[in-house]
Amino acid sequence: MPLDNQKLLDVRSVDAPANSLPADGHGHVRDLETYKAMWKESVENPDKFFGEQARNLLVWNRDFDQVLHKSANFVDSPAWFLNGQLNAAVNCVDRHALADPNRIAIIYEADEPGEGYTLTYGELLKKVCQLAQLLISRGVKKGDVVTIYLPMVPEAVISMLAVARIGAIHSCVFAGFSPGALRDRILDADSRVVITIDQGLRAGKVIEAKKIVDDALESCPDVQTVVVVERTGKGGLIPGRDIKYGEAGKFKPYCPAVPVDSEHPLFLLYTSGSTGKPKGMQHSTAGYLLGAALTAKHVFGLTPGDIMFTAGDVGWITGHTYAVYGPLINGVTTVIFESTPVYPTHTRYWDIVDKHQVTQFYVAPTALRLLRKYGHEEIEKYSLKSLRTLGSVGEPIAEEVWEWYFHNVGRGRCTICDTYWLTESGSILGTSFPGVTPMKPGSCGYPFFGIKPVLINPTTGVEVDERPAEGVLAIANPWPSMARTIWGDYPRYQDTYLRPFPGHFFTGDGAAMDHENFIFVAGRMDDVVNVSGHRLSTAEIEASFLEGKLDNEPMIVESAVVGIEDELTGQAIVAFVVLEGWLKDKIAAGEHTVSDMSREAIQVVRKDIGPFAAPKKVFVVGDLPKTRSGKIMRRILRKIVSGETDQLGELSTLSNPQIIDDLISTVQNSA
Ligand code: PRX
Repeated sequence: MPLDNQKLLDVRSVDAPANSLPADGHGHVRDLETYKAMWKESVENPDKFFGEQARNLLVWNRDFDQVLHKSANFVDSPAWFLNGQLNAAVNCVDRHALADPNRIAIIYEADEPGEGYTLTYGELLKKVCQLAQLLISRGVKKGDVVTIYLPMVPEAVISMLAVARIGAIHSCVFAGFSPGALRDRILDADSRVVITIDQGLRAGKVIEAKKIVDDALESCPDVQTVVVVERTGKGGLIPGRDIKYGEAGKFKPYCPAVPVDSEHPLFLLYTSGSTGKPKGMQHSTAGYLLGAALTAKHVFGLTPGDIMFTAGDVGWITGHTYAVYGPLINGVTTVIFESTPVYPTHTRYWDIVDKHQVTQFYVAPTALRLLRKYGHEEIEKYSLKSLRTLGSVGEPIAEEVWEWYFHNVGRGRCTICDTYWLTESGSILGTSFPGVTPMKPGSCGYPFFGIKPVLINPTTGVEVDERPAEGVLAIANPWPSMARTIWGDYPRYQDTYLRPFPGHFFTGDGAAMDHENFIFVAGRMDDVVNVSGHRLSTAEIEASFLEGKLDNEPMIVESAVVGIEDELTGQAIVAFVVLEGWLKDKIAAGEHTVSDMSREAIQVVRKDIGPFAAPKKVFVVGDLPKTRSGKIMRRILRKIVSGETDQLGELSTLSNPQIIDDLISTVQNSA
């Protein structure tokens, strides 16, 4: 989404509705001046600011003796709260369970409406402790990585917390990933234990999660234990390796938590980068928990008694920070939603909001775009009065969608928090504050505490001071919840985030800031595509094409995958492929068709990565546009496929400019 600086000046500013401000007395920011003063202190004196916040919001087994350890010029990842000790499960569960065991921690909204249940903090503590002991009995110890391959069921939350309770590290893999993608993540993390479910249920359909795990584990000989949640009771167990989750019930209701160092890894979460190999982003315990606690409290205005509904999955960072850690640290109730926004009908979200009196609703624009298509009439039948803040995350929200969200869901009473952040940041970087900061549709507002966003000229590497301006979005200082490394590959971490613009953390996004310093995120500058809020690497999809076979022969020589704008999914994946000679001959002889090939190629990606990564369209071309050094010019392909053939820009750097007409006609003829 290119941003037009002049247009930014015209984006109207909307006052955040005052009644979305939570009741007084819980230490929330209550006016713009306070926000500004707190932000200033947080970036100028992080030791004081975050030291106080960490002591206020988290419970410690041992106090830390230094707040921040950072390298000169920010060339290394930081360490926070040195020599402190704490435990994540104690922070999320024990303290609330001991103070108020009957408070609801989790509302489980099952796939079929009416089939869910609730768990109190007291019950959650018992379940976490029991599973923790089951894991110990299978040899899991501090520092081991446990892979969690679960859909949105309460057992996913219990598993994360049970792993954290014993000082192990969880690595949640989105339950839409294929066996191959799951295998890669298990092997990379050297994980010996997997927690999964016999079958998942989503929109009435069965997801064969255990079968996927079994397939993945064929090439993971070191996995010794698979804990299987029984959702449907179907499917067998492999003796010696598999164990029913229900066996946890044999253990006593309490076990002590293992205090870990502040910097001890809490979890890994794999995300896509510019190369084919997914990156295991490693988050710390104390810094991450503080980021989750502080953002959940201030961005969503969490107040005791609140019911937060984050419609994200624990397979992604949004689910980690705002369906699990953020709400639970703050002692509120979190809604764990197993289904989709349109099952059994497109009013499912609004049913949930009214039924459970949800106070905070947090979702990706892709779902809003879908629901907006159903019009106003149905939604008007709902009260939605309990709502105070409405969050948006994962992709830019278009102005029309923002307006629809603000008026039809929020009824003009709720603050829209367009929250910008990423897996690597652990928690929100930019947002509105409920009832405090003005909002601009399409902007993710102002920086959160401790975040100093800057724009950098990508060519000169110099910070751009004037406003309005656009450039590369970078953060000029370390913040507590930033990922500390890529699991097992710190040099790659440095190369990706800290070296591109020395002294800054490179977000990977392009952005603009208007004359009032509102941040407008344009999107990824690397080869990462954002489909329905899922971050996908074009290189990963291209690598999977190479594995595609027809008649047992490889069919694709090379390919280029690009993201194009899509009305529903934000971006969609389109692929350009060059076929092997034998296949070209067979197509010419009428023995195969282009559609056979394209179906097969799409199938390969579905199988290799997961259905959500499937390209929307595959174009067969003779050659790909390349520079003289052999780099594929995806920019040109993007323009051609978006019909902007008059804006292809400079072609003189191409080694093969003669192919352009061919590319254009292939795309046009297949429209
Ligand atoms: O391009 C930005 C986009 O999502 C990317 C991060 O994806 P992921 O790590 O999967 O985390 C998504 C959930 C936090 C970013 O680099 N993005 C995220 N939030 C926004 C956004 N783009 C525009 N506006 C946002 N609010």
